[in-house]
Amino acid sequence: MSLSVRPFLAAAALAAVAALSPARAQTPAPAAWAPPDLKKLPDDAWGKLVRYGRDLNTNTPALLGPEAVNASMRFSGSNLSCQNCHLEAGAKKFGLPYVGVYGDFPQYRAREGEVGTIEDRVNGCMTRSMNGKPLPLDSLEMKAMTAYIKFLSTGVPVGAPTTGRGAGAIAELTRAADPERGKAVYAETCVACHGPDGQGKRRGQVGDGKGYEFPPLWGPDSFNDGAGMNRLIAAANFIHSNMPNGVSADNPLLSDEDSWDVAAYVQSQPRPHKDALDKDFPVRTEKPVDAGYGPYPDAFEQSAHRLGPFTPIRAAIKTLAAEAAKGK
Ligand code: HEC
Ligand code: HEC
Repeated sequence: MSLSVRPFLAAAALAAVAALSPARAQTPAPAAWAPPDLKKLPDDAWGKLVRYGRDLNTNTPALLGPEAVNASMRFSGSNLSCQNCHLEAGAKKFGLPYVGVYGDFPQYRAREGEVGTIEDRVNGCMTRSMNGKPLPLDSLEMKAMTAYIKFLSTGVPVGAPTTGRGAGAIAELTRAADPERGKAVYAETCVACHGPDGQGKRRGQVGDGKGYEFPPLWGPDSFNDGAGMNRLIAAANFIHSNMPNGVSADNPLLSDEDSWDVAAYVQSQPRPHKDALDKDFPVRTEKPVDAGYGPYPDAFEQSAHRLGPFTPIRAAIKTLAAEAAKGK
C-alpha cells in the first residue's frame, strides 16, 4: 500500500463512523456474563450431584487431597483446590471458567494427539495441575465434576465461543520475558500473599486437609511441570487477569510487561516433575510454542520456548507444518 492511500482510508473510516447513529457507533457489548445460580437448583438428585461437584472444586484437599480423611480418596497429589486456578469455583470471567466448556467436548486434544472427553480433560488437571492420579471414570466424583461443569455451561450452545473463557490474551512482548525483572515485580506485588519462598500460607495445620489461604506457586505442593499453568502464555494471562487476587481482566493491576516477567520468574522456580512428558504432543508441529519441555519441532532452544519472544518460533513452525503437509 502506498503511503498516500492511508490518509484517505482514515478519512473514509471516520466518515463512515460519523454516518452511524451514536448507538450503532459504539462497539457491541460482549454477551452478558451470567453463570447460573446454584442456589436456585432444587435439592433433588441433580441438585445434590451438582453441589457435590462444586464442593470437589472448592474443597479439593479435604475431599481428594493427600490429607483427605478418607484415605481411599487421595487422588490429588497436592493440597491445591481446583478453585485456586478455576476462580470463583469456575464462574469467574477470564479466571479459567468452566462456563461454556461442557459443549466443547469431546474435542481434538493436541497434547494427546487424539479426541478426548470432558472426563479426560478433568483428569488432565488431576495428573498435572494437581500432580495426582486420574479419577476413575465411573466414580461418583467424576460424575459430579462433569455435572457441575455442565451446570455452569447451561445455555451456551454446543461449539459456541464463550467470551470470558480462558484467561484472556494480552499483547506479547517482542523480547524474551525476564525472570530477573519478574523477581522485583514478585517482591513488590505477590510476596504479601504467596510469601518470599513462594510457598503460600496454609489455612490450618499440615495434615488437616484444609488447603491454602494463599496457594504455593512452586515447590513440592505445587502444580507439576506438565501443567498448563507451567506455560508462559497461560500463566502471564492468568496473572494479568486475576492477580493480585481480586483484580479482573476489565480492571487489571499489572502491566502486560510486568505480567510476562513475573510469570517467567514463577516458572524459573522448581516444581514436581511429571514423567514421560516427551510423549506429549505426538504431532510436534502442534506443540504450543511456550511448552516448557521438548522435543520441539524447530531448532529454537528450550529457553526460547520458555521465555519467548514467540513470533519467530510460530513462523518457523508454520513453515515446518507446511513442508510436512506437502510431503504427505
Ligand atoms: C494450577 C492451576 C490449576 C489447577 C489447580 C486446576 N486447573 Fe484445570 N486448568 C488449568 C489451566 C491453566 C487450564 C487451561 C489449560 C490450557 O490452556 O489448555 C485448565 C483447564 C481445565 C479444563 C478445561 C477448560 C477449558 O476452557 O477448556 C477443565 C475442565 C479443568 N481444567 C478442570 C480442573 C479440575 C476439575 C481441577 C481440580 C481437580 C483443576 N482443573 C485444577 C489450571 C488448573
Ligand atoms: C491478596 C493476596 C494475593 C496477592 C497479592 C497475589 N495473589 Fe496469587 N492467589 C491468591 C489467592 C487467594 C489465590 C487462590 C484463589 C482462590 O482460591 O480463590 C491465588 C492464586 C494464584 C495462582 C494460581 C494458583 C497456584 O497456586 O498456582 C497463581 C499462579 C498466582 N496466584 C500468582 C500470583 C502472582 C504472580 C502474584 C503477583 C503478581 C499474585 N499471585 C499476587 C492471592 C494473592
